[in-house]
Amino acid sequence: MAGSPHREPDVEESESLRSDANIAGPMADPVPGPRPADSEPAPGPLGAAEVVSRETRMPRPDQTRVMVVANQKGGVGKTTTTVNLAASLALHGNRVLVVDLDPQGNASTALGIDHHADVPSIYDVLVDQRKLSDVVQPVRDVEGLFCAPATIDLAGAEIELVSLVARESRLDRAIKAYEQPLDYILIDCPPSLGLLTVNALVAGAEVLIPIQCEYYALEGLGQLLRNVELVRGHLNPKLHVSTILLTMYDGRTRLASQVADEVRSHFGQEVLRTSIPRSVRISEAPSYGQTVLTYDPGSSGALSYMEAAREIALRGIGVHYDDSRAHTVGHQPVGHQQQQDQHSMSEGLQ
Ligand SMILES: Nc1ncnc2c1ncn2[C@@H]1O[C@H](COP(=O)(O)OP(=O)(O)O)[C@@H](O)[C@H]1O
Ligand SMILES: [Mg+2]
Repeated sequence: MAGSPHREPDVEESESLRSDANIAGPMADPVPGPRPADSEPAPGPLGAAEVVSRETRMPRPDQTRVMVVANQKGGVGKTTTTVNLAASLALHGNRVLVVDLDPQGNASTALGIDHHADVPSIYDVLVDQRKLSDVVQPVRDVEGLFCAPATIDLAGAEIELVSLVARESRLDRAIKAYEQPLDYILIDCPPSLGLLTVNALVAGAEVLIPIQCEYYALEGLGQLLRNVELVRGHLNPKLHVSTILLTMYDGRTRLASQVADEVRSHFGQEVLRTSIPRSVRISEAPSYGQTVLTYDPGSSGALSYMEAAREIALRGIGVHYDDSRAHTVGHQPVGHQQQQDQHSMSEGLQ
């Protein structure tokens, strides 16, 4: 992307970042306290490299972890989570492939990957059984990060797959035949539970569900969980929900902490201690074909995704995560139960 992105003052970022020394960790500004937004260094890949060079590497798993980022609701942060976790893991020494399984191709866009109609894509892999290695592209600016892009063709794949043999396991086969060594494969699902999502659930072992901290956050999740059970029972015995990530958390609202409490009481251990704050930088980054990790590596959004990735990496090798790092600004201590309003936000799970 040419030129330096236009910078809006970002009060929420500078406040959140500076008021929480834990999450800033080794990347903390040497001068503590709030800083004016316009004094921030220009975002860009160099900044990310500098930040990361001061960071410890994240542990690599023994085997490739295939994580399916799913929630049939749109706009909950699936794509944002996929690309930013993937970038965090790659920037810390992992080899990571993002599989864009949404016809809208938002993950491809956010990673700066060309995905116009003529580009070899995941559609060709699923429908024409093209090799995955024929469509994978390296992501500019982030070493070790790769993307299998989605083009608009994928919109027809839900229908076209119906009449094909092994229609549920085409992605699984393609991934198993992929010869490059990988630590993680993150699959960004479309906002539906059709054959594309089923292909992801058959290919993966872990399901990662981003949950937006808003009312009705859990609505419809019961259906996703039932689908996970069905796929586990019939097609993929190793499938399980391993990770829940709270997204767009706004610590200033009572609702956000209520939703967080509700989600934690339902899912318990699967919920990452780190939650992702609502952040202007996170939402700006895709329009520059970047993840927030390279766009503004010191922002609270980048630091939170980095911390969430660290938690995922540590869980993968069975290491206990130090809770004190997980605070997002305004986030209530884990287990803190706010007085509940008369409605239960988990009604959707019934
Ligand atoms: N933590 C966040 N703070 C601010 N905006 C966010 C955050 N996470 C996601 N968004 C924005 O919300 C919208 C929906 O996110 P997206 O990841 O595309 O959801 P999904 O893939 O589930 O449809 C996008 O415009 C994205 O930039
Ligand atoms: Mg999406």
